[in-house]
Amino acid sequence: MRALITGVNGFVGIYLSEYLIKNGIEVWGTKLPHTSMPHQISSKIIVRDMDIINKENIFEIIKECMPDYIFHLAAQSSVALSWENPQLTININVNGTLNLLDAVRKSNKNIRILLIGSSEEYGIVKSEIISIDEDYPLNPTNPYAVSKMVQEYFALQYINAYKMDIIMVRAFNHIGPGQAPTFVVPDFAKKIAQIEKGLIEPVLFVGNLEAERDFTDVRDIVRAYFDIITAGKSGQVYNVGSNKTYKISYILDLLLSMSNKKIIVKSDPSKMRPLDVPVIRCDNKKLVKLTSWSPQYKIEDTIKDVLNYWRIN
Ligand code: GDD
Repeated sequence: MRALITGVNGFVGIYLSEYLIKNGIEVWGTKLPHTSMPHQISSKIIVRDMDIINKENIFEIIKECMPDYIFHLAAQSSVALSWENPQLTININVNGTLNLLDAVRKSNKNIRILLIGSSEEYGIVKSEIISIDEDYPLNPTNPYAVSKMVQEYFALQYINAYKMDIIMVRAFNHIGPGQAPTFVVPDFAKKIAQIEKGLIEPVLFVGNLEAERDFTDVRDIVRAYFDIITAGKSGQVYNVGSNKTYKISYILDLLLSMSNKKIIVKSDPSKMRPLDVPVIRCDNKKLVKLTSWSPQYKIEDTIKDVLNYWRIN
């Protein structure tokens, strides 16, 4: 079996490549021109430069690779950035996905595609809802969430009109070593590591600490993606998350408890979003029923791994 991963040198792409290779899958990947591949996996993957915005480029690569599976990871994945640049977010996440779907349609090969959506598509849910299942109405409350919902609606059109084989996931928060510090856990961890090294003042600037998120280790997330692409049903949506939430303040305290430096925490208004979903918790029963997946990493271990990553990077 051959898989093509768009955005192969991104945070999730690297973990997914390693996991697929271990499972005997031949891995091809696309990366943005002028970006690099990490050394440890570059020799095991066939890599092509591609910008998802460039339609012709995608078609050529699909024609050359002719994969059985495509994991479409290339995306603008930051909610915070989507507030600053909604146009870029829509262009990459909606037009980019359309480019990919059109290229696959034109290739005339029956390729199974996994599209990565987000729990952000659900938006703010009623307070009596403990965890969100796939049937909960979508109510995106930021530009990133809108882009992921639109991506999904387009996918449904391609499934219905062209009988394409597409599975959609709505991923909840995932974390792990190597994630960019635009996200909360690596942001805090990187700063703490810099403080430990004496590179910056012992002050940590934070945004909304009251939000609750369903965090899963990226190494568990990629297992779920593989299980879903192999066992999932075309046209279906699967939530991917742990069904456990943590307040951002809890994550912060955990990180601070792992450091012996005295650190002052200060609220930074520029880190507050115009609107922030208060609680996001995953009902993952559909995924568990399909694959008996369950997360293996404990939050404390993942957080420690992230902090240790920044201590040496
Ligand atoms: N980034 C960041 N930096 N977030 C902060 C900070 C900070 O200093 N302080 C508090 N937060 C809060 C945010 O307001 C948000 O409530 C929460 O921490 C998590 O923020 P992020 O890590 O940036 O992730 P996200 O929840 O907005 O989005 C992530 O999860 C989605 C799934 O729920 C991303 O990975 C998305 O791509 C993904 O779809």
